Amino acid sequence: MAGNARVIVVCARQADAENIAFSLRRQGLDAIAFGDAKAALAEIRRDPVDMILSEANLTGYSGLAFLAQTRREAPLAQRVLLDNAAMPDETRRMVNEAGPCAVVSGAVESARILELIAIEGPVTHRVGAIFGPAGLETERIESENRNLANQNRLLLKEFAGVQRARAQIQARLTKLEALTGTKTERTGAHSPPAGAGETSDPRIHAISVALDRMIEDPNISLPVVPAVGNKIRNMLTDKHASFDRIAEMIKLESGMSARILHVANSPLYAGLERIRSLPQAMSRLGLRETLNVVQAIVGENLFKTQSPYMARLMLRLWMHSLCCAYANEQIARSLEIPDSDDYFIMGLLHDIGKLLVIHLVERGIAQKTDWAAEGVSEGVVLELMNRRHHDYGRLLMENWNYPSVFADVAMLHDDADSLAGSGEPVIVTYFSNLLSRKLGYSLVPYDGDPLSDHRLAEALNVNQGMRLALEDNIIQLVEKIRETFFPGK
Ligand SMILES: [Fe+2]
Ligand SMILES: [Fe+2]
Repeated sequence: MAGNARVIVVCARQADAENIAFSLRRQGLDAIAFGDAKAALAEIRRDPVDMILSEANLTGYSGLAFLAQTRREAPLAQRVLLDNAAMPDETRRMVNEAGPCAVVSGAVESARILELIAIEGPVTHRVGAIFGPAGLETERIESENRNLANQNRLLLKEFAGVQRARAQIQARLTKLEALTGTKTERTGAHSPPAGAGETSDPRIHAISVALDRMIEDPNISLPVVPAVGNKIRNMLTDKHASFDRIAEMIKLESGMSARILHVANSPLYAGLERIRSLPQAMSRLGLRETLNVVQAIVGENLFKTQSPYMARLMLRLWMHSLCCAYANEQIARSLEIPDSDDYFIMGLLHDIGKLLVIHLVERGIAQKTDWAAEGVSEGVVLELMNRRHHDYGRLLMENWNYPSVFADVAMLHDDADSLAGSGEPVIVTYFSNLLSRKLGYSLVPYDGDPLSDHRLAEALNVNQGMRLALEDNIIQLVEKIRETFFPGK
């Protein structure tokens, strides 16, 4: 809805306005930067605009006086005041006169601007007068636009719920088929992701049923997420978690400080100076990156196995997972996705169902079960993973009491048909997963060129150029991840 909306950005320094306009243009907005209020006014008079962002103090001009002027000349445009300073009474009175639709403190978040524009819809797309008083017809259309936007939001929310319910039914059908050996007729356009339980291979089918029975055993010990992993997730969501508290938690985990120092000095983050202390490392990485690195170190332990037989598969799975985690983080930053603190962990854990398959097969071998007696080849394990890891991943996420979006990512990250109706975490992880596959960091070969599928670009809301730029960034990043976490491999 906000696409092509015209936005004018006015700052005291042209460079600041350019920076903001640049990030808005990357979101698909037609943003123009001005370091001079008069030139901005001339532009507004020349062509209608949807939104005007202005700093409070412009060179030789008050930002509020400028916004008040634009209110008179372009009443339908939304106005946003950019200001960090506390506002005196007189200024507040002037703000009311200027009538901005929002006052923004600190850095300008493109997502917030998109949200503001989405509420009203671009003026340039609306019918009616742009300058001068709005007529009744314009008001009626605006009100309809607002209602439609609200309905759209509600429908999207409902659709996400339906997708989740459908995924759960899908998992139950898969399990039923595995138990009964029958194939259930599915209705609807949804095709199950690779990994559903249908197979004509009787051995795979028999082991699949056996794994299901193992999971149902109340005495089974499923892989557990290390306690520190949960503590970190809580810190990520707690915006008040302090630097010192996190440093304390890191010091309590044996070997963690040394690993963080190693990563902070690695090609991934290295600066000019060699870092020698944890506080220095944390300030180089920043809070979010520090917590991501801690998650990566915790995850590495989760993906370890005592069995040399499975070690090779587990290492490849871990490399793939780490690659997806960093790709998720990079995409979330590049596309400025709000509320993306968990994206790194989602990438790290999206294939956790495969880990559960390895865990169950190892257990079956240790217990000398019938199906394990004749040996379970790597090919068989890979086939079991492909067929079962989506529903096993969802099950594990639910077992760990992670938010439902983690279960959605585990269940749907391979499902091209669900992309259009999936949430951003699923779409971004789908992209990262394919890209890791394309770069050779996957247990599954890259087949055809699914990354260029237009449905993926549409779901991610990026054009071809942006997608290729994302791929380029991540390719360079992956090389550094390899050097940092897997030297010599
Ligand atoms: Fe997968
Ligand atoms: Fe994957």
